[in-house]
Amino acid sequence: MDAIRIRGGGPLRGTVPISGAKNAALPILCATLLSDGASRLRNVPALRDIETTAALLRFLGRDVTVLAPEVHVAAGSSVRPEAPYELVKQMRASVLVLGPLVARFGRAKVSLPGGCAIGARPIDQHLKGLEAMGCTIRLERGYVVAEGPGGGGRLRGSEVYFDIPTVTGTENLMMAAALARGRTTLVNCAREPEVEELGRVINKMGAEVDGAGTDVIHIKGSERGELAPFDHAIIPDRIEAGTYMVAGAIAEGGDVTLEGAELSDLEALVVKMRAAGVEVASEGQNIRVRRSGPLRAVNVTTAPHPGFPTDMQAQFLVLMSLARGESVISETIFEHRFQHVPELERMGATVALRGNTAVVQGVEKLYGASVMATDLRASASLVIAGLVADGETEVRRVYHIDRGYERIEEKLRRVGAQIERVKGAES
Ligand code: EPZ
Repeated sequence: MDAIRIRGGGPLRGTVPISGAKNAALPILCATLLSDGASRLRNVPALRDIETTAALLRFLGRDVTVLAPEVHVAAGSSVRPEAPYELVKQMRASVLVLGPLVARFGRAKVSLPGGCAIGARPIDQHLKGLEAMGCTIRLERGYVVAEGPGGGGRLRGSEVYFDIPTVTGTENLMMAAALARGRTTLVNCAREPEVEELGRVINKMGAEVDGAGTDVIHIKGSERGELAPFDHAIIPDRIEAGTYMVAGAIAEGGDVTLEGAELSDLEALVVKMRAAGVEVASEGQNIRVRRSGPLRAVNVTTAPHPGFPTDMQAQFLVLMSLARGESVISETIFEHRFQHVPELERMGATVALRGNTAVVQGVEKLYGASVMATDLRASASLVIAGLVADGETEVRRVYHIDRGYERIEEKLRRVGAQIERVKGAES
């Protein structure tokens, strides 16, 4: 297994190009199942999760060509609406084939994703919504078996109230509703920009989605029972951009420009960065981050969009570990999302965990150490800590980071980081 080795140093300066959004590409690739035509997705990042999704679509019978930053999906042989545990266990987002498959083919058998490092992450809201659209749902030996009304018929439009805003739950039901008979109304939806982006694509495919990006979405399903293919370039990755914003601010004197990043997608983070004393400005299609003084401690509570993104919690906590004073970071979305804390403490951070809250006491500096990545965003936070730590840091199990960050060492080296990947560092 590879590791990433970082020699802590001075401020980062320069420009980082931001890739397309992983969490927009995954549902949009699954939406190709709603059409038999040839679709093209552009601005797709070269990531392990994209490869896993491509492998899943191929297993389902699609013809998929990944030529980053483009992915082409065409009909291929007949579809076998089954997503096996071997593929789903690699990436929970594989559950996003459930809605399109049962809506398009009348039945689907999809492995339950199972637990995850950051929380239990059930899919009850996804299943509740499909049942409301007329599906029968059975759980069989670790699989969800879903069938359309009357043993495999077309889904019917319905009203679904989410007990909790769920990103992939909203996306799964949007795709199912796009082929259901009649109208569907989804209430208390997730409002993430990636949900809005999926709405744009489904509209391009010929269904009528209204309100994506708000908490109430109306969908009028296609009369024909199949949608048209699409050609679409996806939005920039706001979480990748947010990660480099923190990297740019981690050392005093930092001055980093994020090429092709959308400030409006990151307002909650920008407000907190500015409160911490970091200058953040929009410059045309770019965001510029500069830090010229000490960091101030700031409290943060994660929340569904447009609240502070849970996917930025770990990275922001590293920033607060070097701020003057005490900050309180509350994680309200996932129950086990502080696994980066013990690793940061190995680097000299002072953090007290109390339930879903981390009380961070700022320190003068961090020290390089060997640390272990536990999940995608935790691994990004350890890399950021290594950029400013005294001496050398080795981040292990970096396969987590390859799931969501395209060419991270190369991008960081462009702005002055001393970072390298050590192949096969771990047996
Ligand atoms: C999406 O996960 C993202 N993944 C996650 O990003 C992100 O952390 C999360 O949304 C929250 O923003 C993708 O888009 C592929 P949820 P998702 O359903 O959809 C509970 C990353 O780092 N819940 O919005 O799985 C759930 O347990 C990843 O890129 C139910 O109880 O998250 C959680 O507490 C990590 N029942 C909360 O809702 C359900 O049926 C929000 O989860 C569904 C969810």
